[in-house]
Amino acid sequence: MKIRVLVTYNMFRDGYKELIEKFDVTFPPPGVESFTYNEVLEMIPQYDVLQPMFNFKVDAAIMDASKGRLKLISNYAVGFDNIDIPAATQRGIQVTNTPTPVIEPTADHAMGLMLAVARRISEADRRLRTPQSMHVGLITNLGHSLYGATLGILGMGRIGQALARRAIAAGMKIIYYNRTQLAPHIEARYNAKLVTLNQLLQQSDVVSINAPLSHSTYHIISAPQLKAMKPSAILVNTARGALVDEKALAQALKEGEIWGAGLDVFEFGDYPIEELTKLNNVVLVPHFGTQTIEVRNEMSEIVSQNIINFYNGKEIFKVNEV
Ligand code: GLV
Repeated sequence: MKIRVLVTYNMFRDGYKELIEKFDVTFPPPGVESFTYNEVLEMIPQYDVLQPMFNFKVDAAIMDASKGRLKLISNYAVGFDNIDIPAATQRGIQVTNTPTPVIEPTADHAMGLMLAVARRISEADRRLRTPQSMHVGLITNLGHSLYGATLGILGMGRIGQALARRAIAAGMKIIYYNRTQLAPHIEARYNAKLVTLNQLLQQSDVVSINAPLSHSTYHIISAPQLKAMKPSAILVNTARGALVDEKALAQALKEGEIWGAGLDVFEFGDYPIEELTKLNNVVLVPHFGTQTIEVRNEMSEIVSQNIINFYNGKEIFKVNEV
């Protein structure tokens, strides 16, 4: 009997070809975007593998509903804050992720947000479409130069480093805050210096968040951290919404405590709080870091490969040890 895989989202199939050939794979039926939590809870006893997306919550109740059949959760994301990892480990369920395809596109997107905010690109585009809503002059609508500015990277993992490469090409200087210091040869590659979080906030012209969400990073940027930033500074978040206290950020942007923000993720789901939508000094995008045709296919290939390799005893992108 073939191994049964439940995919929660109706992703296009190109990247899943090999998985579909070798395994018995269930996607939501045509016209249905995604299975609901309750549908998965009901179906899970019939499956060996669950393949959720980064916004699909996998908790202990789903794991227990499988009655011991579920062996692998192959998450479609590098982040795994949607999954109760200790619960999976306790139950001997392997969890995997897709780190490689997300690195470069997420760094592209962070760079794009940084430029859009610093040079007021989205704001100008929006205002030019409404007659008389923008006065055009040589000293109106001024932005900030990124050339020569300091980029503070909060979380200097693979995405943080990919962003550092782009920022260096744009003439920026790099400082970073990380749990562990990078090896000297890697620091030398970016001419990057490890600083405390407070130093990062005080010294950076742009702060980019590239850290995972966990209990220890929840609201890592909140009112006191925003106050520590320069009034001319820009905050960019392409990681997870709850790393930032979104209400405090809206307040800081409104009061001019910081100059602008580029947000690809929001604290309370797919949409920003209303206060943010009223501000011109923030660029808002609904989690587009990996939203390209190419990356979606690559992520589908890696979630599939994790499943195929798990059953063949080959290398997988492990999140936990079971
Ligand atoms: C996207 O958010 C990811 O974690 O891959």
